[in-house]
Amino acid sequence: MSVPSQMQDILCRMPKAELHIHIEGSLEPERIFALARRNGVTLPYADVESLRRAYAFTDLQSFLDIYYAGASVLLTEQDFYDMTRDYLERALADNVRHTEIFFDPQTHTARGVPFGVVIDGILRACQDMQGQISSSLIMCFLRHLSEEDAFLTLDAAMPHLAKIIGVGLDSSERGHPPEKFARVFARCRELGLRIVAHAGEEGPPEYIRNALDILHAERIDHGVRCLEDAELTARLAREQIPLTVCPLSNLKLCVVKDMAQHNLPQLLDAGLLAMVNSDDPAYFGGYLNQNFLALFAALPLEIRHAQVLARNSFAASFLPAARKQALLDEVDAFFAKIA
Ligand code: HPA
Ligand code: ZN
Repeated sequence: MSVPSQMQDILCRMPKAELHIHIEGSLEPERIFALARRNGVTLPYADVESLRRAYAFTDLQSFLDIYYAGASVLLTEQDFYDMTRDYLERALADNVRHTEIFFDPQTHTARGVPFGVVIDGILRACQDMQGQISSSLIMCFLRHLSEEDAFLTLDAAMPHLAKIIGVGLDSSERGHPPEKFARVFARCRELGLRIVAHAGEEGPPEYIRNALDILHAERIDHGVRCLEDAELTARLAREQIPLTVCPLSNLKLCVVKDMAQHNLPQLLDAGLLAMVNSDDPAYFGGYLNQNFLALFAALPLEIRHAQVLARNSFAASFLPAARKQALLDEVDAFFAKIA
């Protein structure tokens, strides 16, 4: 099924925000090989084509193994700049007006890359693009590592705290529940950082509840398994907790069998503040507009849904109230012109 051309046009041109993008997941295979050459790093893949052929994932872990291998080519501030600049230019082409970018410092500090090199390269690209697309940074803790390791990462971040808006929790979900990180997230809250967490992608609804009650997460990343628990779903709707849903990611990581079975329509029908994001676009087959197109091609979604998704993306952002309202007004003006 394909999307009618008027609908394609609306989805691609409407103003939108992206709230769930791992910057390391935007490293395209061509960029990975160019950086490997530049830095003299040897990869366990002969060329771009054989790397791409390895992108046949069966679950989250099978993806993460390749994602961390890909990130191993990042060494210098310029590498982090180039990666981030690539992403921001692609996002801009998709009419993304604002983005809140995840980065995984532990993936790099564990290889001896200083925290400051990572964040300053990413931030410089954000600043260079600020006039065209606004951005904030969210530092993620890797949940397969210990809470002690997360505390060491927070220590390394202390001189750079003004450069990040919040913290998140990513990597292997199963067996690493939110409560493993209760103390470090409590400390982050004391420091005035905003809190988000991946939960309910592969993990059970209980992980979503604990991310809310124990970590005090303000947004849930993925969260698509919430519908297995009616009481939790009702709460997420009542409290308008945003869910940063990633359709192509869910498809590629076998969270859903088929895009036609994605539960985004049910999430919206249940009154949840869900929106569309790309997660790791270089690995999952597309940037933000490709996610919208794949979703609308497979499901009975209409113009009114596009408007709700665009509005939710700004409503769920950590933007200051005045800019948030201005962008919501822009969405409404865009759709008023179509009607
Ligand atoms: N889930 C968990 N960790 C991740 C993901 C994801 O989708 N992408 C990058 N790290
Ligand atoms: Zn993610």
